[in-house]
Amino acid sequence: MTHLFSPLSIGNLELANRIVIAPMCEYSAEAGLATDWHMIHLGHLALSGAALLFTEATAVEPDGRISPGDLGLWSDDTERALGRVVDAVRRYSPIKLGIQLGHAGRKASSDAPWNGGQLVLASDGGWQGWAPSAMPHNAAEPAPHALDEAGLKRVREAFADSARRAVRLGFDAIELHAAHGYLLHQFLSPLANRRDDAYGGSLENRMRFPLEVFQALREVTPPSVTLGVRVSATDWVDGGWDLAQTLVFAQALKDRGCEFIDVSSGGVSSQQKIPVGPNYQVPFADEIKRKVGMPTITVGLITEAQQAEDILARGEADMVALARGMLYDPRWPWHAAAQLGGQVAAPRQYWRSQPREHKALFGETRFGQR
Ligand SMILES: Cc1cc2nc3c(=O)[nH]c(=O)nc-3n(C[C@H](O)[C@H](O)[C@H](O)COP(=O)(O)O)c2cc1C
Repeated sequence: MTHLFSPLSIGNLELANRIVIAPMCEYSAEAGLATDWHMIHLGHLALSGAALLFTEATAVEPDGRISPGDLGLWSDDTERALGRVVDAVRRYSPIKLGIQLGHAGRKASSDAPWNGGQLVLASDGGWQGWAPSAMPHNAAEPAPHALDEAGLKRVREAFADSARRAVRLGFDAIELHAAHGYLLHQFLSPLANRRDDAYGGSLENRMRFPLEVFQALREVTPPSVTLGVRVSATDWVDGGWDLAQTLVFAQALKDRGCEFIDVSSGGVSSQQKIPVGPNYQVPFADEIKRKVGMPTITVGLITEAQQAEDILARGEADMVALARGMLYDPRWPWHAAAQLGGQVAAPRQYWRSQPREHKALFGETRFGQR
């Protein structure tokens, strides 16, 4: 039995294997509404054989979008549009569905990457972001609004409202986005959080708002839906957020009922120096898994089947997530299973594609059969 193709249960979430499709912004929603692009994109990834598919970062309020094309889940209309995609995936695939809920904070109102990704000013149809402190991500940009008590309450409630909608849509998992320099990471990092109230200064204070948001999600998420968090384990900047603080945060999340942690890094500062390479974020997941003992997802430049298998065999993480590798090869799990001797779920429409030399590839896990 391979590690990559062995099942895993996290709470009520039963995963057929350890392959997760990481959240990927598509910048293709219209006023927060999922479009046919989401149907095609999430639809084709749902046939990949991975166990768990995350939506892109989905904004909990319009001002929390990274770009005007971000997916949202803040209204009946956005819920209905996403529901159409969820229902279609459900009809044709047994893949488990996770939603990543996020708020861009001071990194809101950016153009799509293919347009350069620059901040869109309010005068050009953009909007002003919200942040722990009135400090822009880049010095040349206008400062975001600093959230006051009423703003914090609004954002907390927006997260809870989106989570209620996600539960209603039947998502199997919810991932709170506290990574990549977006709002919750901005609260955690001393590089972005300069508050002098109960939400800034000490580590305990900087964790306060992200933990309050987590708690708000925990309260509205039933045990049937698995709830986890994506973190940046380090800012890759001296004096910033780091692994030691992440360990404290992860323990605090676990104590409050967090069921998995998805370990990424960076995103809060343009000063970051990231030693990018295969497995470069694995040591963070490994440390969190060993010290805190929560089911852990590792992500970042995992591209080879044997590489993924080895990470799991060494016990450095419980699941591997792929983003770019999955876009490049949407049938990556099939090819990994063929290489390592595992099995994947395949739709009946594609059964005839099973190669002669991999007779057990689709095994008992075919779907679409009556
Ligand atoms: C097109 C694209 C969009 C992304 N959007 C998100 C996102 O919405 N939320 C998130 O947490 N990470 C996002 N990421 C980061 C990925 O989830 C992943 O952590 C990163 O790409 C490293 O994994 P990889 O080397 O397998 O691509 C995105 C990455 C890509 C390539």
